Amino acid sequence: MAVQVSDKVFPMQIRHERPQDAATIYALTEAAFTGMPFSDQTEARVIDGLRAAGALTLSLVAEEGGDILGHVAFSPVTINGEAGDWYGLGPVSVWPDRQRAGVGQALIREGLRQLQALDAGGCVLLGAPAYYRRFGFEHDPGLYETTGAPPSAFQHLTLSGVRPSGEVRFHPAFDV
Ligand SMILES: CC(C)(COP(=O)(O)OP(=O)(O)OC[C@H]1O[C@@H](n2cnc3c(N)ncnc32)[C@H](O)[C@@H]1OP(=O)(O)O)[C@@H](O)C(=O)NCCC(=O)NCCS
Repeated sequence: MAVQVSDKVFPMQIRHERPQDAATIYALTEAAFTGMPFSDQTEARVIDGLRAAGALTLSLVAEEGGDILGHVAFSPVTINGEAGDWYGLGPVSVWPDRQRAGVGQALIREGLRQLQALDAGGCVLLGAPAYYRRFGFEHDPGLYETTGAPPSAFQHLTLSGVRPSGEVRFHPAFDV
């Protein structure tokens, strides 16, 4: 019997998560954060908590030929205790053997584009400035959070209007 070997190259696509993706997103997030010195290994549970709370404003996967390569979550934040139109980026994960090939950047750029389409005021995150400055994220002491992370790791990107000032809190699902 002849075996047909496909030489098709599948383009990567960014799409919203589907219910059947949840287990893969969990495993992918665990794998990406394993051994990261800044991680407390709660990231996969945070995503499940956000989903259970209906707080996954955006949950995007990068898919290639049916395989999920990476994932990014966005959820609402409060500023000075008020809900509004600012969002938190993260967790973001790419399978270790698929990192540094543009998957993370594609997910983040598409997520920011979709936040803009939702008329978001802006986006915040905790992460390495060396990675996130390419998207326009910057640190400003006027907008801060109090989880104990290094202050410079807290960055924001204003998408519309004026940057607010004050204390930002991520969704309670991050407090696992
Ligand atoms: C961070 C992560 C999502 C980036 O996705 P990726 O697909 O690997 O990255 P990309 O291919 O889009 O970007 C690669 C670039 O980012 C840089 N980069 C990746 N991780 C970085 C980091 N932690 N700090 C600084 N630069 C980083 C690479 O050096 C590369 O730079 P270059 O474009 O100048 O060569 C992915 O590496 C990952 O899952 N890491 C483990 C989990 C994690 O740290 N998540 C983010 C927590 S804030």
